[in-house]
Amino acid sequence: QSGTLSIDPAFVVAPVNRRVFGSFVEHMGRCVYGGIFEPGHPTSDDDGLRGDVLELVRELGVTAVRYPGGNFVSGYRWEDGVGPVQDRPTRLDPAWRTIESNAFGLNEFMTWARKADVEPIMAMNLGTRGMQEALDLLEYANHPHGTALSDLRVEHGVAEPHGIRMWCLGNEMDGPWQLGHKTAAEYGRLAAETARALRQREPDLELVACGSSGRSMPTFGTWEATVLEHSYDLVDYISAHAYYELAGDDVASFLASSVNMDRFIRDVVATADHVGATLNSSKTIDIAFDEWNVWYQSALQSDETPGDWTVAPRLSEDAYTVLDAVVVGSLLITLLRHSDRVTVACQAQLVNTISPIRSEPDGPAWRQSIFHPFALTARHAQGQVLDLRVDAPTLVTAQHGEVSVLDSVATYDADTGRLAVFVVNRNPTDAVDFSTDLRGFGEASLTEAVLLADDDLFAANTQEDPDRVVPRSHPSSTVAGTTLRAQLPPASWSMFLLQ
Ligand code: AHR
Repeated sequence: QSGTLSIDPAFVVAPVNRRVFGSFVEHMGRCVYGGIFEPGHPTSDDDGLRGDVLELVRELGVTAVRYPGGNFVSGYRWEDGVGPVQDRPTRLDPAWRTIESNAFGLNEFMTWARKADVEPIMAMNLGTRGMQEALDLLEYANHPHGTALSDLRVEHGVAEPHGIRMWCLGNEMDGPWQLGHKTAAEYGRLAAETARALRQREPDLELVACGSSGRSMPTFGTWEATVLEHSYDLVDYISAHAYYELAGDDVASFLASSVNMDRFIRDVVATADHVGATLNSSKTIDIAFDEWNVWYQSALQSDETPGDWTVAPRLSEDAYTVLDAVVVGSLLITLLRHSDRVTVACQAQLVNTISPIRSEPDGPAWRQSIFHPFALTARHAQGQVLDLRVDAPTLVTAQHGEVSVLDSVATYDADTGRLAVFVVNRNPTDAVDFSTDLRGFGEASLTEAVLLADDDLFAANTQEDPDRVVPRSHPSSTVAGTTLRAQLPPASWSMFLLQ
């Protein structure tokens, strides 16, 4: 099989938005406790923040982190997590059926975010709570001083306001599993009035309204339309969430997961633009794809009481394989390809729970297979995303019908002359002879070519063998004249850097 890519530096989609390399820290399982926060761990600092995890977070290239949930936030009282630790209440967390000690909260997260050099994206509870609590949280977090709640923050040892700019108005309010689940009209009104109130305090906030928890939700489409009919002028983003997993042995469908994500994005854009048209608005609503990943959710759901009312249990500590890493690489390709409208994205989650980084209590931290395509894409996708054309064979999948075997995106930084091409071969059995004409880029030569592939698609990194799955140098890539050629093994992710 052979496949060709047509690229031209003049055909630009949009700049690479650094916020597309976001992540997510939820009070779920061991993401916070035993993940980013483990007082007493040999690498932890005086704030109890794990140094080995922080180092890996920086290496991953994460730019923004959503916090504190997720389903967790819909029953969360932010006040529980501030002030002297010994005075903080222990609570039941109904979302994950665990015990929440509240030893880690807003101010600890902001300290961690500063050390990790990431922008915070804060979620508010619009499940069990409402507009007043949202206003209170904003006052505590962002007001300089001289009011009850801002002075309380100062009393808690945080003299400077946090200046948090981006806020999520609730989480997955379309899902019946969500505490305080609402109809689209109920949520649309609440989101609109909360946004209006928050903007009375701070007009420049960036606000995210909840979209659908997945494209397969029965309310998908009408949910977005109704929510935006109420809130269009008051919010900046509509969220989207998507998780994928291998079903049985249907590797071909799993490798084509990004076809579903691509369609999801196009459908949300169409719906948002339709509402904009009916309102005769010149404003554009962007997508915050603030939860996405490969997640073996069916394994978690098969356990009726996952947390069993314990503190920070092991939840969804999926051990990711080569195959999962190829899919994650292709989901990132899709997000980047839509950079004109997907301007924020958060891989869910960051450490231990559904995550690229794993850590053990008192033990080491290591990179899972999915760490690698994320880190390489975050580091090398620079400048502008290019609008490319793919000419490749197709294959028929059970879940997504006929799909191209190649999934690709390219970025070009005109200032440095650096071109990066990311490509996935979705074919589970056949290699693809790949080529692309680089005429538009002058005398570009290959500076690096990296391949993530393996004879064993189910190989994974473990504590004992943390580097079993790592990217290696592409064995077969060349540039002859102005043509880049490479053989892409079955089920593989590749990155070519040229200058
Ligand atoms: O990331 C895990 C969970 O997935 C989040 O809490 C929720 O928003 C989604 O359903």
